Amino acid sequence: MPNPKTLKDTDVAGKKVLFRVDYNVTIIKEGDKSSLLDDMRLKATLPTLNYLLNQGCSVAVLTYLKRPGGKIVEEYRLKPVADRLSQLVGRPVKALNDCVGSEVEAEVRAMKPGEIIMLENARFHPEEEVGDEKFAKDLTQGFDVIVYDAFAQAHRIHSSTTGILQNLPSVAGFLFEKEIKYLSQVTENPQQPFIVVLGGAKISDRVGVMQNLINKADTMLIGGALANTFFKAQGLNVGKSLVEDVYVNAAKGEKQDYLQIARDLMAKAKDKLKLPLDMLAAADAKSSDIKIINLDKGESLPADWLYYDIGPRTVQAYREILLKAKMVFNNGPMGLFEVEQFAAGTKKVAEAMLESGATTVIGGGDTESIVAKYGWEGRFTHVSTGGGAALEFLAGKEFPVMKYLVKQN
Ligand code: 3PG
Repeated sequence: MPNPKTLKDTDVAGKKVLFRVDYNVTIIKEGDKSSLLDDMRLKATLPTLNYLLNQGCSVAVLTYLKRPGGKIVEEYRLKPVADRLSQLVGRPVKALNDCVGSEVEAEVRAMKPGEIIMLENARFHPEEEVGDEKFAKDLTQGFDVIVYDAFAQAHRIHSSTTGILQNLPSVAGFLFEKEIKYLSQVTENPQQPFIVVLGGAKISDRVGVMQNLINKADTMLIGGALANTFFKAQGLNVGKSLVEDVYVNAAKGEKQDYLQIARDLMAKAKDKLKLPLDMLAAADAKSSDIKIINLDKGESLPADWLYYDIGPRTVQAYREILLKAKMVFNNGPMGLFEVEQFAAGTKKVAEAMLESGATTVIGGGDTESIVAKYGWEGRFTHVSTGGGAALEFLAGKEFPVMKYLVKQN
């Protein structure tokens, strides 16, 4: 397990802290009012933030939000995020108009113990995503130490990730430490039976995870549109369903044959890998004409129909497997859970995970929405804040930020 330096290894009392978080959240604007679609990423950093405040630190929060492409995009300003953080932490959070420059430096110099400021979206600067060294140095002006809690942005080589960490003493925050602890348990020593549940739209995001975890899992349960690639790889008809099969980028000379990857995975996994026995299908997501297609009985989908959820017999089969689990990792929903008539697969599979009493680690953007939708906050052992970052970690890749955070013995 990577062993980052943590807050417990360092005396931060009274220091000026550059607190690097991932507050890459969705802001909803209604009239003059802006709010956050989901504040889980903010709440997840509160243990670190409260610890810093109790230590008499002054704290400047640094993040990027969305993909403004190196220019100012008004709707991606961080003021609504600062306002929500202020409510959560119970003290003012002053949102600045920039993240570097003389005005920002003056604000940092003037910060008093217990004060919080929020630096503006680092991606408003074109230097950020190319990892410009001067911009990275500018971001650290006036601070004593970096506390790094941006787990979900730890797979990026940008000025505000690897760049800043080269300029100041840096330690991991409690969220980063917790993410590494639980995700390392998944990859290194899962309790058995260990069940991996994968869904969501794309196989391309999950190939590395599947290849890495298939050796460690007792069973891997597949759902969501991800299942369609496996169906198609077996020569089954998937109608108009969402499916990733062969990806060609002629300009870059790249080709990925996901059907072959799926076949290789099935051959390697043998009966560890379970595909849905039945699926719910319709001509479109709003149609009330929904059919159960029993794939294991050779039934076929009408040519212009789509699969939207796993069917009831699959739910039951997956449930029986999950109830025996000691550890479960889940990434991605089982169906189009945003539409009520196709939410049952996702909901019931998640309920089985909760009922099993297993250590439950779940992650990925949709997973956060599912937890919020059903009011399951606090029910899973660990809900990862990382989407792409968690998948890269579970695929066995090392985070570029890690070499600046590990303990020097
Ligand atoms: C995420 O939401 O997965 C992270 O914040 C990373 O965002 P990015 O893919 O835009 O770098």
